[in-house]
Amino acid sequence: MKIIGFESSCDETAVSVVEDGRKVLSDAVASQVEIHALYGGVVPEIASRKHVEAIAALTEKALEDAGCTRGDIDAVAVTCAPGLIGAVLVGVSFAKSVALGLGVPLVPVHHIRGHIAANYLAFPELEPPFLALAISGGNTLLIDVAGYTDMRILGGTRDDAAGECFDKAARVLGLSYPGGKPMDDLGRQSAGGVYQLPHAQVDGAPLDMSFSGLKTAVVNLAHHAGQVGEELDRAALARDFSQAVSDTLVPRTMEAARLAGRKTVVAAGGVAANSVIRADLERACRKAGCKLYLPPLRLCGDNGAMIAAQGYYEFLAGHTAGMELNAYATRDIAEELKNP
Ligand code: KG4
Repeated sequence: MKIIGFESSCDETAVSVVEDGRKVLSDAVASQVEIHALYGGVVPEIASRKHVEAIAALTEKALEDAGCTRGDIDAVAVTCAPGLIGAVLVGVSFAKSVALGLGVPLVPVHHIRGHIAANYLAFPELEPPFLALAISGGNTLLIDVAGYTDMRILGGTRDDAAGECFDKAARVLGLSYPGGKPMDDLGRQSAGGVYQLPHAQVDGAPLDMSFSGLKTAVVNLAHHAGQVGEELDRAALARDFSQAVSDTLVPRTMEAARLAGRKTVVAAGGVAANSVIRADLERACRKAGCKLYLPPLRLCGDNGAMIAAQGYYEFLAGHTAGMELNAYATRDIAEELKNP
């Protein structure tokens, strides 16, 4: 079964054709990163307009790269939540017209479910159940994935997402947007251990997290250094920052896996590309006797293939939608998206 997947929830327009949820036939992406970098973050109105400009040509490219004609497509999958509402709406509207035009089912997909499904593309043997750590620009969640479409949130951030925190900290260190990768690269130049950064705990909710204090601590450090004319050890700060995020994420991930009785851990989302988090997860999983799946770097960020992959399993579960499908800025990952 060939599914065409559309992703437009943030600053990448992506269209991909995937066979049976596992085999990527094409993966076309138009990134807007350069435009938003001028402003130090995503400008929602610009993002929506760029999606509109890119999506039709990208669809033709995805079909051509896959060696498919329109008639070969069996279903259309689309991110319908969560994300920048105008941006998500572009993908949803376009996907609806494609499904209607081709006369094939329309399958709504939760963006974070898609990030998790990126691992199905890289690891043919991977099947639920497992514990997922989903860490992206807008979300930080610990999810018990009991089945392909059966998910339960065990913990998450109470304020900023891990990626948002990386991006803001990178900005005060003068690094380019999006800041996660430059922070990671800069941090590799130092062994760290120079800056004491906060590690917040949420009272009574051991699997929940808070990153806003960490973000503020880096902003204050940078401003203070500027005011008193002190030179920051930027590489050490970047390294210590990654470590502080990892120290928050990794022990909670292992505890969530233990509580859910899962022996397999899966990482997902853009922040899963971070070298400190990857190394710490590897160490912790080895110690706990858990099997760890880390998505290859090219599948950590937003892409259409992950939406088509999850779309396959949503389709098998009967989760299709009609032309009344809407876009949502927020939506619980555990909720069924069928005819929302
Ligand atoms: O999953 P993603 O591509 O988009 C969303 O769905 O949000 O994640 C983007 C986030 C950005 O905040 C970016 O700075 C972060 O992932 N990121 C990283 C790294 N590479 C990307 N964060 C830390 N270390 C990295 N190597």
